[in-house]
Amino acid sequence: MSRTVLITGGAGFIGCNVAQRLLAQGDEVVVFDNLHPQCHTGQGRPKDLPKDVQFIPGDVTLTSNWASLLKLHRPEVVLHLAAETGTGQSLTEANRHAMVNVSGTAQLVDAMTTAKHVPSHFVLTSSRAVYGDGAWRSASGEVFYPGGRTRAQLEARQWDAVGPDGRPALAIASVADVTHPSPISVYGATKLTQEHILATWCRAFGAGLSTLRLQNVYGPGQALGNPYTGVLTFFAQRAVAKQPLDVYEDGKIVRDFVFIHDVADALAAAASQTSNTVRTFDIGSGEPTTIEETARVMARLAGAPPPQVSGRFRDGDVRAASCSIEAATKVLGYRPKVSLEQGLTALLASIPRT
Ligand SMILES: NC(=O)c1ccc[n+]([C@@H]2O[C@H](COP(=O)([O-])OP(=O)(O)OC[C@H]3O[C@@H](n4cnc5c(N)ncnc54)[C@H](O)[C@@H]3O)[C@@H](O)[C@H]2O)c1
Repeated sequence: MSRTVLITGGAGFIGCNVAQRLLAQGDEVVVFDNLHPQCHTGQGRPKDLPKDVQFIPGDVTLTSNWASLLKLHRPEVVLHLAAETGTGQSLTEANRHAMVNVSGTAQLVDAMTTAKHVPSHFVLTSSRAVYGDGAWRSASGEVFYPGGRTRAQLEARQWDAVGPDGRPALAIASVADVTHPSPISVYGATKLTQEHILATWCRAFGAGLSTLRLQNVYGPGQALGNPYTGVLTFFAQRAVAKQPLDVYEDGKIVRDFVFIHDVADALAAAASQTSNTVRTFDIGSGEPTTIEETARVMARLAGAPPPQVSGRFRDGDVRAASCSIEAATKVLGYRPKVSLEQGLTALLASIPRT
C-alpha cells in the first residue's frame, strides 16, 4: 500500500529531486511550500516539480495553513525541508531566518499535536553549518574547536586555524556522533535548533527522526537568480560566459560538494526506513576538494580562462568543511555515485546560454 509523504519546502532545489525519487518508489507525495520569491521567480507551480505531486501552497510559519493541510492529509512520513537558507544573509537578517527555520519547525510539531497525528517518521534536512568551523587537530595532536575567524585574522591573511601550541593546525572531517556542533552563522544556529525541536518532540511522542546534515549540494535546478545560492551555480554562470572565476582567500578553502541526485537518494533511503529512533547522519560526497581545484576543473570543462585566486574573503565563511559518510553508508546504504567532474559537467550543461 502506498504511503503519504509530506515534503515541506518541496518545491525547492532538493525537494523537487527527492519528490521524484519518492514517486518512483510508489509513494503519494504532497508538497507544502510558499514559493519564496528569493528562490522562485514566478508564483505558479515550478516546472521542476513532478506533475504527480500534489502541491499545496502554504507557509510553515502559519497555524491556519497547517490546519488546512492536515485536514486534507495525515502523512505517515514528513520530510522537513522548508527553510531560509542564506548563510551569510542570516547574520544581518537573523529574525527572518529564525521565523521560518525555528518558529516554522515549532509550528509543524504544534500542528501535528493539534491534529492529534503522530507521523511514524520525520526526515530533517539539516546542514553542515551546525558544525561551524568544526574540529581541528593541532601539530601536537590535540583536538580543538577554533570557533570562527575574526576580521583581524582574515585581514592578516591568517586563513587556517592555529593550534593552542601556536603552530598551524589541520581541519578534521565532521562525524555526527563525535563532532560538537558549534555554529558560526545564525543560519547554522537555526538549523541546530530545528534538530533539537524535532528530536524533543519525536522522543516524547514515539516518532522516528532521521536528521541528515548535508554538505554543499549542487547540480541542475539550483535557483540561478538567487544571489545567496550555492557557489558552484554562481561559478557555472560565469564559466559559461567565459569569465574568470574569482577564488577567495588563498584558494585552499575546503568543501565537500555533493551532487543533487546523490542527496535525493540519501533522503529517499532515510524516508523509506522504518525507525522509531532519533538518529543523525552526515551526507556529502566523502571527497573534499579545495575551491581552487574545483574552479580549475569547472574552467577547463567550460573552456573559460583559468581561475584567479584573489585573496578576497567573506566574514563568516568557514575555512574547511568535510565529513565522514561512513554511518550513512552503513545504515542507509548511501553510496554517492556522481564524481565532481561528472556533476560539474551536468551543472554546466544546465546553464542557459544567452
Ligand atoms: N542546498 C544546499 O547546499 C543545502 C545544504 C545543507 C542543507 N540544506 C537544507 O536543505 C533544505 C532545502 O534546501 P534547498 O537547497 O532545496 O533550498 P531551496 O531554497 O531551493 O528550497 C527551500 C524551499 O523552501 C520553501 N520555503 C521557504 N520558506 C518557506 C515557508 N515559510 N513556508 C513554506 N515553504 C518555504 C521555498 O519556497 C523553497 O521552495 C533546507 O532545509 C536547507 O537548509 C541545503
